[in-house]
Amino acid sequence: MRLALVSGTGSRDLARTLAREIGAELECCGIERFPDGEISVTMGPVRGADVYLVQGTAPPVHDNLAELLLLADAARRSGAARVSGIVPYLAYARQDRREAEGEAVGGRVAAEAIGSAVDRVVLVDPHAAALEGFFPCPVERLSAVPLLAECVRPMVGDHVVVAPDLGAVKRAARFARALGLGMASVRKRRLSGHDVEVLGIDGDVRGRPILIVDDMISTGATIVAAANAARAVGATRVIAVATHGLFAPPSVERLSSLELDALVVSDSVPARPRMTLSLTVVGLAPLLASAVERLHRDAPLAELIGQR
Ligand code: R5P
Repeated sequence: MRLALVSGTGSRDLARTLAREIGAELECCGIERFPDGEISVTMGPVRGADVYLVQGTAPPVHDNLAELLLLADAARRSGAARVSGIVPYLAYARQDRREAEGEAVGGRVAAEAIGSAVDRVVLVDPHAAALEGFFPCPVERLSAVPLLAECVRPMVGDHVVVAPDLGAVKRAARFARALGLGMASVRKRRLSGHDVEVLGIDGDVRGRPILIVDDMISTGATIVAAANAARAVGATRVIAVATHGLFAPPSVERLSSLELDALVVSDSVPARPRMTLSLTVVGLAPLLASAVERLHRDAPLAELIGQR
């Protein structure tokens, strides 16, 4: 079966690098935006092919989500033998439960839509592992933690790895194990989509540099609150690492004020034009290339998924 790699506009650069990595050409496909805002997709010849659609759902979230669904529909209607969605950043993942009566569970809605459109989904560090259960199709969860940990290895000395909230503890523990460092965690309470407050820090960061590890940076509230709380109890220098750098407003202003030693993210979210923060960006193409090659041969992914 022929491997066909298709890129949406939400992950163009990553898809190009991935194509180079696996020595494939990106398939021809037309994506047009109509004046009323609708998206029109025309798939190239993929009959009988094993199709991999590379399309993250970072902002513009709904355009990118719709494009992914349309690409999947076009591939199926064009006779693809199998359609896999490679979604390096999954939107709505933080809406994985109701926080109050009357709310929707957006994570479930997005997962249902995507999982009904494709035969299989490949995710990178989704916000919560349990999201897998929301998808009506098989999910392969890859992790960027080993790549990110290798990137920061030369930057760390006697750092303490800090989980900026309880949801980040497992991820921070994986970093701490990979780098042979101790860890601490912050107790955080979210006040709104833009603001959080720190209730306390468990673990000792006095007189130590810290490495804050999270799955994503959106408004920057979480990283900034964790860094300030750690500094208030004596932490010295700060490095921040996250798989997904969304950098929604006002993250740039907030993070600029922090004087970080380094801010490390992957390229799961395309670089924002005119970004003024100094970022170290870790490419996901090698990880995704190994995954695509293995999935294409129906080989196991165990080594790529690693320790949870
Ligand atoms: C929350 O549970 C997530 O893991 C992140 O900590 C959070 O979503 C980051 O968002 P922000 O940068 O707006 O605090």
